[in-house]
Formats: sequence, C-alpha cells, structure tokens
Amino acid sequence: MASHIHSVPARHANPLHTRYLDVRRRTVALVDPLGAEDMAIQSMPDASPAKWHLAHTTWFFETFLLGPHLPGYAPYDARYSYLFNSYYEAIGPRQPRPFRGLLSRPTVDQVLAYRRHVDAQMLRLLDGLHDGMLDSALENLLALGLAHEQQHQELLLMDILHLFAQSPLRPAYDTAWPHDRAQGPGTFQRMAGGLVEIGHETPEFAFDNESPRHKTYVAPFDISDKLVTNGEWLRFMADDGYARPELWLADGWTLARSGELAAPLYWERIDDGWQVMTLGGLRPVDPDAPVTHVSYYEASAYARWAGARLPTEAEWEISAHAGILAQADTVAWQWTQTAYGPYPGFRATADAIGEYNGKFMVSQLVLRGGASVTPPGHSRPSYRNFFYPHQRWMFSGVRLARDAGHGTSDPLPPARDASFARDVRIGLSGHAKSMSPKYFYDAAGSALFEAICRTPEYYPTRAESALLARVAEDIAAAFPPGAALIEFGSGASEKTNLLLGTRAGIDLYVPIDISRDALAQASARLAARYPALTVLPVEADFTQAFVLPDSAQQRPKVGFFPGSTIGNFTHDEAVGFLRNAREMLGAGARMIVGADMVKDLPTLLRAYDDAEGVTARFNKNLLVRINRELDGSFDPESFDHLAIWNDVHDRIEMHLVSRVDQIVHAAGHAFMFRRGERLHTENSHKFTPEAFATLAARAGWTVARHWIGDAPAFGIFELVDDERAG
Ligand code: AVI
Repeated sequence: MASHIHSVPARHANPLHTRYLDVRRRTVALVDPLGAEDMAIQSMPDASPAKWHLAHTTWFFETFLLGPHLPGYAPYDARYSYLFNSYYEAIGPRQPRPFRGLLSRPTVDQVLAYRRHVDAQMLRLLDGLHDGMLDSALENLLALGLAHEQQHQELLLMDILHLFAQSPLRPAYDTAWPHDRAQGPGTFQRMAGGLVEIGHETPEFAFDNESPRHKTYVAPFDISDKLVTNGEWLRFMADDGYARPELWLADGWTLARSGELAAPLYWERIDDGWQVMTLGGLRPVDPDAPVTHVSYYEASAYARWAGARLPTEAEWEISAHAGILAQADTVAWQWTQTAYGPYPGFRATADAIGEYNGKFMVSQLVLRGGASVTPPGHSRPSYRNFFYPHQRWMFSGVRLARDAGHGTSDPLPPARDASFARDVRIGLSGHAKSMSPKYFYDAAGSALFEAICRTPEYYPTRAESALLARVAEDIAAAFPPGAALIEFGSGASEKTNLLLGTRAGIDLYVPIDISRDALAQASARLAARYPALTVLPVEADFTQAFVLPDSAQQRPKVGFFPGSTIGNFTHDEAVGFLRNAREMLGAGARMIVGADMVKDLPTLLRAYDDAEGVTARFNKNLLVRINRELDGSFDPESFDHLAIWNDVHDRIEMHLVSRVDQIVHAAGHAFMFRRGERLHTENSHKFTPEAFATLAARAGWTVARHWIGDAPAFGIFELVDDERAG
C-alpha cells in the first residue's frame, strides 16, 4: 500500500518541531505495512485498532495542548472527543473501549487528515514555545504528549501482533522484523542491597508515577544477568510446569487448569516442534532467545519451579543502575513481584492529566525495563510499566532473583509424591491413558530392570557394553586433557568402568543420580578400584536444573549418557535434555551417548517381552507402586503386558491392557478401564545414525564420530558442541 507518511511544510529550524515531528512521523511510519482493513479491527477488548491509536494520540495533543493553549483553537471535529477519549472522566463520556473496533468511520484517510491538521496547529503552538512565550508547564505537557504517543507506538505493535495471530493466514507485519537476540541462559549476580534510593532523579522527562525519589531498604539478593530463555521454558513445560498446582498462585492455577494457560501466548505446536507468532510471522521457537508473552502467573510459577522468585522493582532498579542487567530493555519487559502503587509522597495532579497514571494504582504489577517494540530512547531505569497479572499480549518476559545466602530461595516442597499423585490423576483420567516411564524406577522397579538386562532377550545392555569395551580407547583418546567425566543417571556406574580404565587417565568423575544409595555404592566401588580417581557424586534428577561441583566447573567436561535412556524421552524432551547438557558442560563440551538402533521386528519385540516374563513384571510394577504409594486398588493380574512396534515413530511401546471392565481407585480418585483399554507406560525409541544426528543437531550438537556394534545393533555417538566448536 502507498506510504502514509505525510510531509509537513518545512519551517525555520525550531528544535521543538524536530522533536515533535520525529515522534509523530514514526507513528505513521509504523502503520505503513498495514492496509486499511488491518487498521480498523480490534482483536480483543484490551487491544485497539491501529486507526484508533493514530486518532487518539492526536486527540491527546488537541485536547491537552491546543485547546487550552493555542488561542482561538477550535476542535477539528467536536465528535472526535467522544470517539477518541480513552479514559479521561474529566473530559467526558467516550466510546466504550471494547467497541473501538466498531468505528468504521472516520476512515483511515480521514484520521490521517486529522493528524495533519493537528500537526500543523502544534507547530504553530511550538513556535510560541520556542520564542520563550510559553511556560514550562506547557513544555512538560509536550513531553508527556510525546511520551504518550511513544507508548501508543508500542501498543500499536502489540495490538497488531495480537490481531495477526488471530488470522488463519498468520500474516507477517514485516518479514524482516528482527529476531530477538539469543544470548542463552543467565547467571545470578550478587547485589549487596542496603538502604537505597529509587525513583526518577534526572531533569529529563519522566512519568509522574516514577516520583518522588525515595529511600527503601533492600536485603542482599541475587539477580540473573539475563532473561529466562525459551529453552528453559520448554524444560519447565516438559516437567509439567503448567500442571503442578504447587507451583501456581491460586488465580493462575484456575487459568492453567481451565486450559487457558498451557504455553506462552503465541506459541503453537506444529508437527514435532514449537513455533511462535511474531511480528515477522510464524517462526520456530529459538531456545536461546528470551521467552516473551507470559503472564505474571506464569512468570511466578516458573520462578518457583526454578527455585527462585521474581525481583522487586527496587531490586531491579538498583541492579540496572549497577550495570549488571543484560537484556534490560531490548527484548521484553520484566515482571516484578511489586504491586503497582504510589511511591511515598506521590500526588496525582487534580486536573484531567492526573488521571494518566494515578487511578490505575490498584491490582496491577510493575514491569521494568523495556522491549523490542519499545520506541528507541523511550525507556529508562526508573520507568514503571504496569499490567494485570493475567495479561500477556504485551512483550513481557522473566528475570529471576533470589534471596542471598541460599543456594535457592523458597525451595520447592518435596513434590515427588505430590507429582506422582497428580500424574496418576491426569494420566489415568484421559481417554488415552498414559504414565511417564520414570515412575517404573522405585527400588523394586530398579531391581527388575537389572533383571531384564540379564534376560537372554534384552540385548541392549550387553550390546552396548561389548561395543564400548571395543571402542573405549578410541573414544577416550579424544577427551581433552584433564577432562572431568559427568554421567547422567549413573545408577551402578557399570559402563563407566570401561571409560575410567582407558589410557585417558580420567581423575575426576561426577555421577549424577536420583538415588542416594546407588550413588554411595557406586562411588565406594569406584574409589576402591581407581585410587587416583576423585568421585564427586551429585544427588539430583538429571532432567532438572542442578549445579556441578566447583572443581568440575573448572575442568573441560565430557558428558556420558549410556543405556539408550535417551530413547525413553519424547524427541522434544531429548532435545531439551541434550541442549541443557550442552549448556552445562560449557565451552568445548563433548558428550558420549548410547542409543539403540532400529532393527528387525522379532529381535525388538522379544527384547521387550521376554519368555520368563521379567519385563511384564517390570511393567506391572507400576501398578504395584501406585497401590503402595497412592493407596491404589489395582489388581496387576487383571492387566496384560503388551509390547508393540510403532512404525511411525520408530519405537517400541509398552502398554498395560485391561482384561476386564473395571473401576480402580488410586490417589483418591476412581478410574474406569474398559476391557481391552490400554495404559501406555513407556516408549523406547530406536534410531538410525541419521535420525540420531538430526536430534542432536536440534540441540546444537554435531555427531563427530559414531560406532555401531554387530547385530543386534547398538550405537555409540560422540557429540561435539556445534556452536562453540568454531
Ligand atoms: C532404561 N531403558 C533404556 C530401557 C529401554 O530399553 O527402553 C527400559 C526398559 N523397558 C523395558 N525394558 C527395558
């Protein structure tokens, strides 16, 4: 469409003209990619049509500057006050906000003509101001009018994105719209706090809500130097972050439970991955870029999941002044935990302009910083943005903080049992019943798995060990000197021996496992066998965030993930895990991963349905565990073990099949099983070398070498950090 940018007659050089016209022209330039239809629609009550923004900002100058201060000024069209007054009671009645999208008239061209008229009159007014005839109160009004228009420039983009996200065509506002800069996850920085001052202090313009500057006490705290990333958010989602009531504020939980909150706004699940609607159109979610468009409820749940909290606005402001906040105002406004209220001594002016900020000081939360859509030069460290906790069409993100002196503040309650109960309730209620395979591994389940590994049919363990024994020297020869070996889900650390026994002379080993007993036993065994080896066990769920011991941090690190456990993850989970491992292993990371290969069907099916029935007992142990831990009433004998091959996803699936119609009680609920109905308990993905390399590449790894053993084929993959490899 033709450019909407209009020219105003050149005048003598008045710096106020330039200041005024720069802002006004930018607004008009922003609608240049839009058509008249785009500009008339309102996608929700919170949003406004672009045309309305163009008109309202103009009405603001007309109402608060021209009317009272330009002698003889008559409104351009007296009806516009009703149409384009936003919320000023002192000015009079107005078009209800939810119905701004019904204003097909005035047309876009008429609104642009209105803008041109007001601009010309404003330049006349500014001539007087330039000549020193107008007072500083008017100068303040001009600054407010321009800052107000800049706020609407941001709103206009927010509203256009929301509108375009509703369109099945998912149109791009601008296909060249820049991607948010991906800087990866942050690190906590310590701030001493103390008696500090916050609030606006320079002579430059600031909104009234940023004053008075005042003292406040801030206890020592840590604050992240970067925003929470999409990759971190995916881990939160993979850990059922949206389905765990213990993480959520009550009002947020109501929304999460209703299904209204299940991912950041604008995320769309497409095929196997997540895409996000942006001003540049639909794009893949970049795991290293900051997450945007999350509500306060989501931000707070995420922070709780991460063992952290949201910063207060005072913490944010003093950290910004200290210069430790990356991405302070470049990607997304950051939720704080501070309720939006008046600073001590704040007084709104008694006139209509007093309605600008003061009357909204209830029930909202402060956001600090700025966003990719914030006009250049508009933000400042004392800026207090504010939104209701459920809103998320603004560009809102998350920066974490925590109290100093704690590894984590407000640690999560021991939620394992609670999450088991919740997962049983969710997993058994739906039409397609399913449970995560992680619940197999109580003490009895772990012992049964070891028994599976000894069955003649279950080849993966033997195949992997044989292959590893054959290629261990070759693998270890590429380890960087002094490397620490980090094993994820180490269990009995049996395959580790094959790497520790090589000429690489590994002298630092970090086994990570959820079982304290397994760690203690394995550590003792290895210490006895390798006297020069330091073992630093970490008791943690390796799929969650955890911290490596300091001495390992300083070494180059090699990750080790044998056993084809990666096959038990969904592909998205596997990518999330591999990506996090890459980040944790740091510069020059490499990783050795064992993965079972696609092969002939009989071999696969036998491995998961052995003649002695060990795998069947392993599968049914899930029911035994539910009975014991969640007061369940399962009769394991009324279910059959079923192992089948899924051709589409290249995986063995394990199910438990109900032999009869039955009602079972567990975790305080009753669940109906029809005869023949399945409970899906495990996926065990099998790979081709190409499929594994693709998966690894999605997590930023390159497969440097791989080894495939003799039939039944098992694979060992050597991953190197693609992004840091040079
Ligand atoms: C632990 N994991 C790799 C095993 C597998 O082969 O998927 C678990 C297992 N399930 C049945 N048998 C073994």
